Amino acid sequence: MIISLIAAATQNRVIGKNGGLPWHLPNDMRYFKQTTLHHHVIMGRKTYSEVAVNKPLPQRTNIVITRSANTRFAGCLTANTLAEALQIAQNNGETEAFVIGGEQIYRLALPFAHRIYLTQIHTTLDGDAFFPEFSAEEWQLVSSQTHEPDEKHTYAYTFTLWQRKNEPQKLQQLSE
Ligand SMILES: NC(=O)c1ccc[n+]([C@@H]2O[C@H](COP(=O)([O-])OP(=O)(O)OC[C@H]3O[C@@H](n4cnc5c(N)ncnc54)[C@H](OP(=O)(O)O)[C@@H]3O)[C@@H](O)[C@H]2O)c1
Repeated sequence: MIISLIAAATQNRVIGKNGGLPWHLPNDMRYFKQTTLHHHVIMGRKTYSEVAVNKPLPQRTNIVITRSANTRFAGCLTANTLAEALQIAQNNGETEAFVIGGEQIYRLALPFAHRIYLTQIHTTLDGDAFFPEFSAEEWQLVSSQTHEPDEKHTYAYTFTLWQRKNEPQKLQQLSE
């Protein structure tokens, strides 16, 4: 199973502010939906409650990661660790599981990821949540598509896809 991170970030790596996204880029929302549709999406509890506003993303298997043992989220599966979330996806026969944020969960998942779908937003903004740094020595840019600003998009943005050059760390708990 391929483990992918998908995110949008500014040039100063901001991914969020006050629990939300500090931009409105409808084409990126469309790209996110197309890319993740029919797959397992794995998110932190804060992203589920603040960004998804407590609603599961339709036509995807939603897995929320929380440390809380007994909390359940309507329409979602719950995991207490990243390994448990990935194991659920793998047991369901998933081919590519998407980690969809936020910062805490991206940081947790990055060492185990094969791919990063990163929308690079051509601006710097204030924020309080950041995408983790990753090194060009470990990651190769395999595709890049830039869109200029227009009446619906205040900033230019580039859809980038990064592939890890070598095998990522393995999560020990994950059985084949
Ligand atoms: N631009 C983008 O692409 C994008 C995408 C998604 C989110 N975001 C932004 O990211 C921000 C939210 O990120 P965040 O880092 O604050 O929160 P988060 O990663 O969405 O969720 C954090 C929560 O995940 C659970 N968690 C974290 N580590 C865990 C572990 N090791 N084991 C079990 N559970 C764990 C905890 O839930 P409990 O407290 O319930 O235990 C924790 O409070 C928001 O601003 C949002 O807008 C941006």
